[in-house]
Amino acid sequence: MKIEKIMIIGAGQMGSGIAQVCAAAGYEVILNDLTDDHLDRGMTGIQKNLSRQVSKGKLAEEELNTILNKLTVSTDIADAKECDLIIEAAVENMEIKSRIFKQLDEWAPPHAILASNTSSLPITEIAASTNRPEKVIGMHFMNPVPVMKLVEIIRGLATADEVYEEIEAVTHRLKKVPVEVNDFPGFVSNRVLMPMINEAIFTLYEGVAEKEAIDEVMKLGMNHPMGPLTLADFIGLDTCLYIMETLHEGFGDDKYRPCPLLRKYVKAGWLGKKTGRGFYEYN
Ligand code: CAA
Repeated sequence: MKIEKIMIIGAGQMGSGIAQVCAAAGYEVILNDLTDDHLDRGMTGIQKNLSRQVSKGKLAEEELNTILNKLTVSTDIADAKECDLIIEAAVENMEIKSRIFKQLDEWAPPHAILASNTSSLPITEIAASTNRPEKVIGMHFMNPVPVMKLVEIIRGLATADEVYEEIEAVTHRLKKVPVEVNDFPGFVSNRVLMPMINEAIFTLYEGVAEKEAIDEVMKLGMNHPMGPLTLADFIGLDTCLYIMETLHEGFGDDKYRPCPLLRKYVKAGWLGKKTGRGFYEYN
């Protein structure tokens, strides 16, 4: 099967980043979301990113136009009927994802692969809401998508080998590196990353050090590009909490208990960079 046209569901930070890299790799892309407002914001982000590359001399003006011409927008999920691959990047909520996958199963042609960019929800359960679980797979991109090389590819219980191979080939065409993992809570990326972030929040909560000190230790001591508290703000504290809860519930082990300070910040609406305040303030 040849994948030519890809639909991305969700024009947020992740969805628009995925749409950008797919269009840059030469695929026809439909960016789908519920409202024109969401789509406008997503497309503005893509244009800004590409224009920045042009001003740095990393992309020619004609290439920018070629990429933008590959992108169309839609608020109708039925447009999945034209696509060979659909990558869902909507909110991290099983009920919503199951509903989307049910609709996609209805509209997408029988050969189409349905992928989810979920950061921790079980692919096997998402797949069970369709009549094509062998064609459902996880394609977990990292933020910021245009920069980060990894795509964690998650096999659900029923994912067919040829579907895995197809998605691996797409990932290579996006100039990213695929890594194969199995379907367990948090997969590999967030099983390892989130407990580290949660532990950093505990060190702040327990007064072991100031937030800047905790970040400095990890940046300079471990050569991480960002300290864990800055990274948590960047990812979104609501997302961090949601992933910790998924790990806690999925493994039933208290080592994954979310730090009370993380809960408190989320309850306060301090969700990180996107709301202007998390562990740090942003303007
Ligand atoms: N979108 C697009 N490009 C971006 C960007 C964004 N949001 N932010 C930075 N960039 C680009 C810059 O334009 C720059 O590009 P060039 O090299 O072409 O000039 C490049 O990235 C480096 O940027 P900067 O020099 O401004 O800053 P930096 O060196 O500090 O890098 C960073 C920024 C790449 C974000 C770096 O800080 C980093 O790697 N941070 C950690 C990111 C990370 O861990 N991501 C994973 C999060 S977890 C996740 O996504 C999974 C999950 O499920 C929660």
